[in-house]
Amino acid sequence: MKRTVTCGALRGADAGKQVILNGWVHRKRDHGGISFINLRDRYGITQVVVDADAPEALKEVVEELRNEYCIAVEGTVRRRPASMVNPEMATGEIEVVASRIVILNRCEVLPFQIEEETDAKEDLRLKYRYLDLRSGGMQRRIKLRHEVAFAVREYLTAQGFYEIETPTFIRSTPEGARDYLVPSRLYPGKFYALPQSPQLYKQLLMVAGFDKYFQIARCYRDEDARGDRQPEFTQIDIEMSFVSREDVLTLVEGLMGYVFQKTLQVTLPARFRRIPYDEAMETYGSDKPDLRYELPLQNFDLYVAESTFQAFKEALATGEAERQAAAARGVRIPGGGVKALVVPGKADYSRKQIEELEAQAKIYKARGLAWMKVVRAADGSPTLEGGISKFFVPAPDGSGAPADLAGRIIRGLGAQVGDLILLVADSKRQIANVALGAVRSKLGRDLGLCDPRRFEFAWIIDFPMFEFNEEENRWEAAHHLFTWPQEQYHAIMETDPGSVKGDLYDLVLNGFELASGSIRIHDPELQKRVFSIVGLGPEAAEKKFGFLTQAFKYGAPPHGGIAPGLDRLVMLMAGETSIKEVIAFPKNSFAVSPMDDSPSEVEPRQLEELHLIINYPKKGDAPSGEVL
Ligand code: AMO
Repeated sequence: MKRTVTCGALRGADAGKQVILNGWVHRKRDHGGISFINLRDRYGITQVVVDADAPEALKEVVEELRNEYCIAVEGTVRRRPASMVNPEMATGEIEVVASRIVILNRCEVLPFQIEEETDAKEDLRLKYRYLDLRSGGMQRRIKLRHEVAFAVREYLTAQGFYEIETPTFIRSTPEGARDYLVPSRLYPGKFYALPQSPQLYKQLLMVAGFDKYFQIARCYRDEDARGDRQPEFTQIDIEMSFVSREDVLTLVEGLMGYVFQKTLQVTLPARFRRIPYDEAMETYGSDKPDLRYELPLQNFDLYVAESTFQAFKEALATGEAERQAAAARGVRIPGGGVKALVVPGKADYSRKQIEELEAQAKIYKARGLAWMKVVRAADGSPTLEGGISKFFVPAPDGSGAPADLAGRIIRGLGAQVGDLILLVADSKRQIANVALGAVRSKLGRDLGLCDPRRFEFAWIIDFPMFEFNEEENRWEAAHHLFTWPQEQYHAIMETDPGSVKGDLYDLVLNGFELASGSIRIHDPELQKRVFSIVGLGPEAAEKKFGFLTQAFKYGAPPHGGIAPGLDRLVMLMAGETSIKEVIAFPKNSFAVSPMDDSPSEVEPRQLEELHLIINYPKKGDAPSGEVL
């Protein structure tokens, strides 16, 4: 009873053939003595019929069948009557009239039904992931993931890249997240780290002369889970020698174009927009803007002085004082900001709707979300009403804001009668931008502007090289320490780190960061200067990445690279919002696998071999209930 065809193969032209199918009972229905079995495998569903005049023995087998029994069916392909043809099904023109059915394996009562998309709770899906993976949706997404990975390998191989594996037991690499550690049995007290990415190794491969490297690489990071983050995930890791930024961006544009065309038959533009980081923050309040809609943040600072609104005036004045104080310490910061967002046609938003938007802004540290509506005045001209509008129009006695201010604001913002204007002010311009940016994202979702079938790519370029850590009062690398500071800033790196832009780039898609990369430092002297700006003296640097700096003394070529996240790419291509939907066996939000119950305790003998004693943080955490 070995299959001769799959459940997705048969068409009208196959009528009359004798076939054997293997698969799972998807659904079974009885209609006046005739039984219909939808038989499913990876390839599709075929309708199997057991006619009313079938032998009793066959009917008895059918009687016993339940959902998800694994069976073999022998029978004859028959065209369905015209009225019964199902155009929704690839095999909808035919059915297989069974002459014999063998039960290969029975199935217990299911924890949830296998549907196209199940509505079972996540932990239940993950506990029985092998059943969840049987659903049409999961089957399609895992197939897409395979096709994407295959297309990536095809494209990069055709471009002359080698796929080279790098170790997963390494020295801890400086990528910013916490490492997963593996204790060494042979060397008590020593640990391997699982790589957060193959960063250092791919750079060493450039020193080794491999020129064009890629790897579909597993990475491990001990950070809090989110919809687009998993403790272990996969990167399409790429590195190239003798390249400029444009070479890397062009390669990835070609790669994305090929992958989308091949797997989704979607044609992407040959070139993606390039948006400098500062512009992205000012216009979208995010370094990963969703560009499926515009809704730009606009500058409102220029209207504040003429208004009577003290809160906005104070935000700007405090910001200016902070800017000057920082400048005196040699740190350049932007000062305060008031930003506006025009929501077309939403002057009818209720107070509750605006409060929901305000809650979003507050998550990102805004003190509040101010608003005004654009309405038609008695004389027919557009004016401002509601919210904080009274500070921008003259008082009844003629005092207060100038009579033409409202008109100038409305024209300046490009607003129309019926629009809603939302505003955030803060003494830190970045907070005003980011908080209003979060409001912009919520509006995008609320107003249905996020069509999952549209793919709006952009490059964010010219990122700051260093960020100031206020708490620790020191500069940190914004991406990683091996990023090339743009040439024009080399002279001022030590005196004005805050204004240095790195040769860094992110690829963003529909509001997600898809990839990050940079041109690297290949000059040991420049590398030393960067280490020293972030407070890493020669000895500490030597201890941390001595093997890399050592290698760079042997004729390291100029090089650069990037790493698109494979999980995020497939997630967006599949129109999903969680990467768990495109990973066969993901962890839940608590970094736990409910299926195999990992992480789990190990035998005391194993701990002993590894020279480990567990220091349980709380009494009662230890399996024995004791604090060791
Ligand atoms: P970065 O840390 O920005 O860069 O990571 C690159 C891309 O990897 C994906 N990614 C993740 N996906 C799922 N879960 C996670 N926890 C997770 N973390 C990152 C994202 C991200 O854009 N070595 C550098 C790259 C380089 O400079 O070449 C690096 O790892 O899609």
